[in-house]
Amino acid sequence: MTKVLITGGGGYIGAQLVPILLERGYDVTVIDTFAHRVNSLGHVCHDDRLEIVRGDARDEALVSAHLKDMDVVIPLAALVGAPLCDREPLSAQSINVDAVKMLVSRLSKDQQVIFPVTNSGYGVGEQGAFCTEESPLRPISLYGRTKVEAEKIVMAHENAISFRLATVFGMSSRMRIDLLVNDFCYRACRDRTIVIFEGHFKRNYIHVRDVALGFLHGLDNFSTMRGEVYNMGLSSANLSKLELATKIKEQVPSLVYIEAETGEDPDKRDYIVSNDKLEATGWRPAYSLEQGIKELVKGYQMLRNEVYSNI
Ligand SMILES: NC(=O)c1ccc[n+]([C@@H]2O[C@H](COP(=O)([O-])OP(=O)(O)OC[C@H]3O[C@@H](n4cnc5c(N)ncnc54)[C@H](O)[C@@H]3O)[C@@H](O)[C@H]2O)c1
Repeated sequence: MTKVLITGGGGYIGAQLVPILLERGYDVTVIDTFAHRVNSLGHVCHDDRLEIVRGDARDEALVSAHLKDMDVVIPLAALVGAPLCDREPLSAQSINVDAVKMLVSRLSKDQQVIFPVTNSGYGVGEQGAFCTEESPLRPISLYGRTKVEAEKIVMAHENAISFRLATVFGMSSRMRIDLLVNDFCYRACRDRTIVIFEGHFKRNYIHVRDVALGFLHGLDNFSTMRGEVYNMGLSSANLSKLELATKIKEQVPSLVYIEAETGEDPDKRDYIVSNDKLEATGWRPAYSLEQGIKELVKGYQMLRNEVYSNI
């Protein structure tokens, strides 16, 4: 039986990936600090093939002990997102880069790695030109820089695949409403208003389950895909923030969005991405942006930041 170690497997992506791998018959070990205090894997604890280890991906003794018998490693553990990395730069370096370096140094030649990177590494793209895997990487945040550095370390290992993910959206049992689509939908559902800064900035998007299925595709096709990096996003969704808001308004008609005439978005990402290379391997996303918005509108009926409010 194939054994998979996932660091950070209790996170937003991990909470979708772990059940899919278990369903497909993999043995899965998760190492996570669970610092977000959500029992994101509660619904799969009944499965004997799941092992959960509460621990730190920087703990060399712990990681080495669990790495020994593994066939595949998926290092998801990270401080994720530019604001969090700016707030905790030392941890960003030690978790996003140093822990990955330590892990890779402990791999045997045959152990496989699948690694997620943000496609924010492309930073500011050239107007109208699609970023491919050959495009220069010029990350504009500490988060982007740590992920780009970690990708280089991972790809020096013979048996590795890197997926450069678009901005992920959709519901997960460890929810993140700080991601752009999730954030806009939350504001649409709760506030009915969005103020958009620099609304023409374009980004690419991908459903969280498609990310999980993409990792599975990498596992299934490892021998032909290894040694390469692949963009993973919805080719039908290279959209500006204003276009995204229009799509949300189609499903939440009461939404009012306005573009601010002054002020800036601290997040300067502006690029469109080609996913041709991954699609050429046979991968296709299963969920559209429209399906994701519908799902978020439904899911947000369960989620409310209402600790300091009576409504
Ligand atoms: N969500 C996206 O849009 C996106 C896009 C590109 C790449 N990624 C990458 O995917 C991975 C997962 O991201 P996510 O969206 O699920 O974020 P997340 O914050 O929900 O998940 C990260 C997980 O790592 C765990 N973790 C943090 N520090 C740890 C440590 N020291 N030891 C063990 N566990 C630790 C957290 O508890 C959390 O469960 C990250 O590597 C991220 O860079 C995410």
